[in-house]
Amino acid sequence: MDKFDNRAAKYTSTRVGLFDLASTQIPQARFLERECAIARLKLKENIKFCDISAGSGYLADGVFESLNGNVDITCIENSQAFVDILKKKYFVIKSSLSNILVPNQEFDRVGCLAGIHHQQNKLAFYKEAFRILKFGGILVIGDVLEESPPAQFLNNPVDYYSDIGHDGMFIREDEVSQQLEEVGFINVTEKVEYYTWNFPDEPSMISYCKNLFRMTKATLNEVYQVIFEYLPVTQDSAGVHLHWQLLFVTAQKL
Ligand SMILES: C[S@@+](CC[C@H](N)C(=O)[O-])C[C@H]1O[C@@H](n2cnc3c(N)ncnc32)[C@H](O)[C@@H]1O
Repeated sequence: MDKFDNRAAKYTSTRVGLFDLASTQIPQARFLERECAIARLKLKENIKFCDISAGSGYLADGVFESLNGNVDITCIENSQAFVDILKKKYFVIKSSLSNILVPNQEFDRVGCLAGIHHQQNKLAFYKEAFRILKFGGILVIGDVLEESPPAQFLNNPVDYYSDIGHDGMFIREDEVSQQLEEVGFINVTEKVEYYTWNFPDEPSMISYCKNLFRMTKATLNEVYQVIFEYLPVTQDSAGVHLHWQLLFVTAQKL
């Protein structure tokens, strides 16, 4: 049992629907972020891929598209509302990250994008990731770094304006790598990636963030104010760019 197991029960279909609405209305917004994960996964056709904390399947969709569908994808989610909306072409398992309900050595690749900042016992998850990977398999984690601008944004305005608040337990530089090595991973590397979430214009950025972060207690103007207070935003002829960053960690089981 992890702290998130209780939180997951509060993810209603309305709440999850808003997250999915953002992702389906502007799927390209987080394209660069997803590419950071996909490049590290070193994908090959016909592998078995596991998207951990799949949400509505944004990473799974990117892996599926990259391999033209020649991949066997399993999505792990602990929220029933997300389980219900994940695409039927994926094999979906409702499971805690502390005790993943799959056999040993099941996957060639495991990816976890923005999924572990609500997982209290991160070491338990790293042990499980090691267990379910085949020998030669690769794990890629991308998540919010403690004290980074995204961490401040999530645990302040998103916490204040969202329906159930946000109390992220963010990852720290070196700590993830040390813990992954502790559970047996080798070739562990980590790097903070700086990129942008991209939008055609400001109104689409504001409505995307309001929905993705379920800031249901905020007006669009309040969302606009807090975005500009916490995160750099730039604009050019291609559109509006919200500057974001995650720590990406790659590890191998040999
Ligand atoms: C910010 S969303 C990211 C979803 C997806 N990976 C993406 O990038 O769009 C975080 C997801 O992780 C799941 N999650 C977070 N902590 C979890 C935990 N400890 N155990 C299981 N699922 C968790 C949530 O249900 C949610 O779907």
